[in-house]
Amino acid sequence: MPDRPYVIDEMISAKAIAARIEALSHDIRSHFGDTEKLVVVGLLRGSFVFIADLVRELDLPLEVDFLEASSYGNAMESSREVRILKDLRGAIEGRDVLVVEDIVDTGHTLNHVTALLKSRAPKRLKSIALLDKPSRREVDFRADWIGFEIPDEFVVGYGIDFAQRNRNLPFIGKVRFTPEPAP
Ligand code: IMP
Repeated sequence: MPDRPYVIDEMISAKAIAARIEALSHDIRSHFGDTEKLVVVGLLRGSFVFIADLVRELDLPLEVDFLEASSYGNAMESSREVRILKDLRGAIEGRDVLVVEDIVDTGHTLNHVTALLKSRAPKRLKSIALLDKPSRREVDFRADWIGFEIPDEFVVGYGIDFAQRNRNLPFIGKVRFTPEPAP
């Protein structure tokens, strides 16, 4: 699949992303303004650029932790199994927690991760996703804050990959396959 030739069309500019993060960080700061110390949890690997920019806009006492989950589809049963590949380093009981995700697509990953983290009895738990594809949803889940709603397109850049490529693009672009070159 990734060896099929493709081009990337810009969908959301680096400037638009920065402006949106600044606006979102105001909302997050007013929500968690009284926090003792916020635990900002990045979901690896796609959120690493987003979390880096987001925390630098959050003028709050905070720490950063990471969790890696993987979701495996079962087309026959239209079900998904979400597995935790790397858990948090720290405990979150009684803490304020913000989960940071790159994209909510079917919703299985964030739905599973937020349920798991809630079971650890945090004081407050909120989630933020840079991108949301509501038309793809398979479970009833909505992040508390969303950067941009996008149509059902495969996107890359700003931390998000296509077969581990294109994470280093400063903008969000959509993948467009081009015809194979003639042999
Ligand atoms: P969900 O469990 O279907 O909501 O999956 C969310 C995860 O799927 C994201 O964290 C991404 O890793 C991946 N994903 C969904 N849509 C895209 C896309 O357009 N480009 C790259 N990865 C995507």
